[in-house]
Amino acid sequence: MRSTGSINTQVAASVLSADFSDIRRAIAIALDAGADWIHLDIMDGVFVPNLTFGPKMVQDIRPYASIPLDVHLMITQPEALVPEFVHAGADHITFHYEATVHVHRLVMKIKEAGKKAGISIVPSTPVSALSDVLEFVDIVLVMTVNPGFGGQQLIPKCLEKVAALAKIRGKKDYDYLISVDGGVNRDTVQQVRDAGTDVIISGSAFYGSADPGAEVALFRGS
Ligand code: DX5
Ligand code: ZN
Repeated sequence: MRSTGSINTQVAASVLSADFSDIRRAIAIALDAGADWIHLDIMDGVFVPNLTFGPKMVQDIRPYASIPLDVHLMITQPEALVPEFVHAGADHITFHYEATVHVHRLVMKIKEAGKKAGISIVPSTPVSALSDVLEFVDIVLVMTVNPGFGGQQLIPKCLEKVAALAKIRGKKDYDYLISVDGGVNRDTVQQVRDAGTDVIISGSAFYGSADPGAEVALFRGS
């Protein structure tokens, strides 16, 4: 999945920090700003202490989004709902390593459905937990905050995992993108980029900005 030789970091706009009463506008803001992906956080109130929305929102957004819909499942038993998100038009489906026993099975199920498969780890899960699945995934989403809410502070220690994942990828010739989710802003973006991040996911910094296009340019390093 990785585009070899890519020089710029990509940016995913996380609508968690947008105004849910005007979701079409939130998508337009992401498109106008030049975001590469739209990141959609699905929370079930069990895996994380918050609730957002489900597949219908993804389906309703789909016609208005000309860029990939990057679905981040923060739910228990993700295997139960993956078919719904496939049907809804998600392009990337990322679930949590901590949320299911059968990680390899679900990665393969997502790929068999023609979607990009992502795996995510919370701050307390080490990269070593993923060693037997890294060769199969398209995306590794490193959480740099404890998932559940936007606007939290980045935990710098988590960036060591980004560097480790980049090193493993080079050594083993794997092909995943490394995305970073949580606490990326003007103050932290340099360390996030330096760690080897391919895709920056941004909610509060992006939607809280008076000029989201400028945030994208800053995050991208262009
Ligand atoms: C948090 C979500 C993130 C969230 C990031 O659990 O997974 O996608 O939108 O928000 P910021 O960029 O504000 O940390
Ligand atoms: Zn997310």
